[in-house]
Amino acid sequence: MAGMFDAGSSMSRRVYIETVGCQMNVLDSELIAAELSRRGHELVETARKADTILFNTCSVRQHAEDKIYSALGRLKHIKRQRPGTIIGVLGCMAQKDQKLILRRAPHVDLVVGPGRLGQLGELLDRVAAGRRPWIEVSRERSSGDRLAVLASFRPYDPVRHPAARPAPHQAMVRIMSGCDRFCSYCIVPAVRGPEQSRPADRIKAEVRQLADHGCLEVTLLGQTVNSYEDTSGGRRIRLGDLLGRLHDIAGLRRLKFVTNHPRYMTAELIAAVAGLPKVSPYFHVPAQSGSNRILRRMNRGYTVERYREMLAEIGHALGDAAVTSDFIVGFPGETEEDYRQTVGLVRHGRFKNSFIFKYSPRAGTKAAELYEDDVPYKVKQQRNNKLLAIQSEISLEQNEPLIGRQVEILVEGPSKAAQKRPGHGRLVQLVGRTTCDRIVVFQGSRELTGRILSVQIEKVDAFTLFGRLP
Ligand code: 5AD
Ligand code: SF4
Repeated sequence: MAGMFDAGSSMSRRVYIETVGCQMNVLDSELIAAELSRRGHELVETARKADTILFNTCSVRQHAEDKIYSALGRLKHIKRQRPGTIIGVLGCMAQKDQKLILRRAPHVDLVVGPGRLGQLGELLDRVAAGRRPWIEVSRERSSGDRLAVLASFRPYDPVRHPAARPAPHQAMVRIMSGCDRFCSYCIVPAVRGPEQSRPADRIKAEVRQLADHGCLEVTLLGQTVNSYEDTSGGRRIRLGDLLGRLHDIAGLRRLKFVTNHPRYMTAELIAAVAGLPKVSPYFHVPAQSGSNRILRRMNRGYTVERYREMLAEIGHALGDAAVTSDFIVGFPGETEEDYRQTVGLVRHGRFKNSFIFKYSPRAGTKAAELYEDDVPYKVKQQRNNKLLAIQSEISLEQNEPLIGRQVEILVEGPSKAAQKRPGHGRLVQLVGRTTCDRIVVFQGSRELTGRILSVQIEKVDAFTLFGRLP
C-alpha cells in the first residue's frame, strides 16, 4: 500500500486543510484551498482520504496550540504507515514556534507563517520532491530593520475565484493585515506582522467581482479593521470612506466589518454606518476589561469612561445597533475589585453578546515578560463562568423583544443537524443571520439558501432566534 501514497510519485495531491482560530484563518484557508485546486491538487473532506494534511493554526491562547500539538502527535503513526504523507503547519503557530514545531513533531514536513502563505503552492511541490523539512517564515518584528520586517510579511491576497467558493452568497474580504497596537497580552502583532492596509480600489474590484457572482453579503476583515487607512492614491481613505465606496456596488445587499478597536471608533465611522443602509448596524468592539488600571496594563489606549462614551455615541446615532465585545478575565494583577468593574461594564454595555476568555500568557508578549500570571486558574474559571452567565442573561433580554416581530435574514443553508440527515423530507431546519449577526433557525426548503427574506420570530434563547416563514 505504501507505494500508493509515495510523495513525488504524482504532482497532484489530495489535500485536507484543518482550520482553527479566527475569521482571518478561515479566509486564509479558503484562499489556500482555491489556490491549491487551481494548481491541480484535489481538496478532500477528511484527513483519512488525504496524502497532504495542512493545519492552519492559531496562537492567541495556549489551549489552541495544545490542540494542534496533540493532533500532530496523533499523525505520527500515519506518517509511519504512509511515509509519502506531507504534514504542514501553517499560520500563526508556524510563525511563533518555527523550529520548535519540528523539535516537538519531527514528522512535520512544512512550516509556513501567515506572511508567506503566497508561496505555499511552490513549497508543497518542493517538499513533495523530497526537500524537507522546510520552514518558511517572516522576520522577527523585534529584529530591528523596520522595512525588512515589513517586506517579509507579505499580505496574502491572491486573485479570488468567485465561482468556486464555499458559501457563494457570503464572503469575507481582507482590507488590512497585521496589527500595530501591541496590546500587552497579544501575540498577533508578532505573528501577523505590521499593519498593512490594502488599496481601496483593489478591495472594490474584489467586492464587485464577488457581487457579480451572486455574493450578497461581504464582511470586511482586519485585526483592527477601523484603523484602515489607504493613502496610496495621494488621498486618505478611512473605513467610513471605504464603506461609502463599496455601498453602491450592484447586487451587494449587506456589508459588515470586524474587528474594531475602541481607539479608532470615530464619529465619522459611526455616521457612515448610520447613513449607509447596506452597512449592518453591528459593531464588534472589544473592551477587554472594565478596570482602568487593567486597561493600562493591557496597553489598550483608552479608559472605561471613553469606552462608555463611544457606546453612547453609537446609541445616539443608531438606536438599535448591536454591539458585541470581548473580555479577558484573570489578567495579571486583576483583583476582585477590577473584576467587579468588568462586571459593571458588561451590565452597563448591554452587549448583544460577549466572548469571554481566561488570560493565557504568550511568550514574546510584554505581559508575559513583565507580569507574573498570578490569578489562580480556579479564580479565572470562576470569573469566566460568572461573567458568561451575566452576559447570557443580557443576551436573552436583548433577544426577547424580537418575539412576535419579523426580522430580515440571509439564509445560510441547512443547520448542522439537518446536514447530518440529508434528504429527510421536503422541509429541513435552515439557519440564517440578521444584519445584526443574530442566528435564526427555522423550517424551510433547501432552495431558500442564499435568499434574503423575512421570518417571524416565535421563541428566543440567549444565542438563537427561532422563527417561521410568515
Ligand atoms: N489570553 C486570553 N485571551 C486573549 N485574547 C487575545 N490574546 C489573549 C490572551 N493572551 C482575546 C482577546 C481578543 C480575542 C480575539 O482573544 O479578547 O479580543
Ligand atoms: Fe491583539 Fe490588540 Fe492587535 Fe487586537 S488590537 S490583534 S488584541 S494587539
